[in-house]
Amino acid sequence: MTDAADSPPVRRLSDWDAAELESLADEYGSPLYVLDIERVRENYRRLASAFPDADVLYALKANALGDVLAALREEGAGLECASAGEVRRALESGASGADVHYTAVNPPARDLDWIVDAWADDLELTVTAGSEDTISRLADRGYDGRLCLRVNPGIGAGHHEKVQTGAAAKFGVPAERAVDVLEDATESGFDVVGIHAHVGSGVSSDQLGAHRDFVARMGDLARDVSDAVGELEFVDVGGGFGVPYREDEEPLDLESVAGAMWDAIGGIDARLAIEPGRFFVADAGVLLTEINTVKRARETTVTGVDAGMTTLLRPALYGAYHPIRNLTADSSDADVRETIPQTVAGPICESGDVFCSDRDLPASERGDVLAIGNAGAYGYEMANQYNSRPRPASVVLDGDSVRRSRRRETVDDVTRLEREAR
Ligand code: LLP
Repeated sequence: MTDAADSPPVRRLSDWDAAELESLADEYGSPLYVLDIERVRENYRRLASAFPDADVLYALKANALGDVLAALREEGAGLECASAGEVRRALESGASGADVHYTAVNPPARDLDWIVDAWADDLELTVTAGSEDTISRLADRGYDGRLCLRVNPGIGAGHHEKVQTGAAAKFGVPAERAVDVLEDATESGFDVVGIHAHVGSGVSSDQLGAHRDFVARMGDLARDVSDAVGELEFVDVGGGFGVPYREDEEPLDLESVAGAMWDAIGGIDARLAIEPGRFFVADAGVLLTEINTVKRARETTVTGVDAGMTTLLRPALYGAYHPIRNLTADSSDADVRETIPQTVAGPICESGDVFCSDRDLPASERGDVLAIGNAGAYGYEMANQYNSRPRPASVVLDGDSVRRSRRRETVDDVTRLEREAR
């Protein structure tokens, strides 16, 4: 077991044992998600030791696997949940309400009903509301518990416009209205405990200036809010810590990020809370996929694989870069293969179903196993059944042991709801 903060700041795809991964694909089939729980723990410890005085919550939308929740709970993380379903997973993992923040975004009635019931059993649960409507819908249901207000700070950052939330009108109450909204909530009997904002996801080193401005705004707002409604328990500045996806990208310097955040927030009479998702799980996971087709097309060589945009959506949705490695070529004793530009594409009937275009990789052969790196965050979570394609299996590596963490879906699973409706 690696000690606290001493683990490497990034695990590259080249650091994984090619032969071991290939044998997992052999044993459990392909496509297959592999998650190394020890690496999740290491990531948590590095981040938590850079922020010793902050509350660290895990945004479980990045990877809600029970094994991840159990490991991070054991390390001391709280849990940030985006839906009633995630809150249920959090509580079922053994967390108590005091460890759980539910961030409501245009919450369906069914979610609010469930949350208010859960709160009645555990009054320490915190609900973060992003609109006055959510607050009054909570009041309608008799909720007068711990309330945090999500604000829209007007500053966004992140790896793609689709994940920049800080200035997107959809999220939060405009920061300049926060004091009024919280005065009303206090008068209505809510227990106002915090303010929250999330600037966006995948904030890289070159966006840290924008992030610092955002944190400074949260500090100013916290001071205004506590002058108006009394001391806050916490100021939650969200997640967003970027990780390197490209082989030559450097990891964030956590100590300096933490230092800059404390400087920016200024003196506040409240705890600082952060809620990263990607940071803990991204480089702890890989996706294994088998090559079934090698085709010379007009201008490129197409390597067809059995995983697609239904298995890992990020490249299709955000044009996201994921490292790719041919495990069979790397683990064999045969001569080094020639490197040629390849387009790695999945089995889905859409031209966007490609993991990379014209990337230099060892010449592919049918039956080779590829590993797609940094697949631990927003990989399985965003998998779907488009084209009636069952979702893949997952395994967890935990020290020397391997366990199946999700069985592979079958076409029967995909059609079950339709059969049951008859
Ligand atoms: N807190 C809130 C309120 C969030 O909405 C999010 C992410 C997080 C925390 C965690 O952000 P992280 O530390 O993981 O960056 N599917 C996209 C990412 C969407 C993130 C949505 N919200 C992707 O694959 O890049």
